[in-house]
Amino acid sequence: MIAGTAIPEDLHTIGNLDALHAVCERVFVPEPGERLVFGEGPEHARLLLLGEAPGANEAETGRPFVGNSGRLLNKYLQKADILRENAYVTNVIKVRPPGNRKPKTSEVTDALPILLLEIELIDPAIIVCLGSIAVQALVDRKAKITEIRGTWVEKDGIRIMPTYHPSAVFRDEQKRELLKQDIFSAAEALKKLEP
Ligand code: URA
Repeated sequence: MIAGTAIPEDLHTIGNLDALHAVCERVFVPEPGERLVFGEGPEHARLLLLGEAPGANEAETGRPFVGNSGRLLNKYLQKADILRENAYVTNVIKVRPPGNRKPKTSEVTDALPILLLEIELIDPAIIVCLGSIAVQALVDRKAKITEIRGTWVEKDGIRIMPTYHPSAVFRDEQKRELLKQDIFSAAEALKKLEP
């Protein structure tokens, strides 16, 4: 990784996203010429979309889900009548793993306190976990995405919908349909929330 300096132990003193973003800029070091990708969206969004780690387009722009996966995600959000700008979009890992490799378990463990605080600050009602890294970070270290997807999990009062990562569905029509279904379930649950 990725972690330049150790994650500060007094993270709990951080009370807003700007301050948390500043911590990330100190502790997570992107590859030369790349940018850190912090979450983006409304500070108290009711829906949080959680991905794995930035890809090349994200590391270039400093924004989550702006490449091919992001376009596919946007398409399904639109079909489900969810405005992306109303959702908070972030990743477990905030800098692109070299060569787009899968994040290591130790990297996920290191990044988790920051992610948990980010979630606490947003305080969403619903989280959609996109892919196994997000599901394993938040729900269950041993979860298998093929078994758990589509099933609501409740944690600390937040409803979590595990589903496939958009990059996993490009060449798989069946998975694409399931990702769509799960995003529709999240949209239904969002509609049922108190105004
Ligand atoms: N894949 C992710 O998991 N996150 C992004 O931001 C882009 C692609």
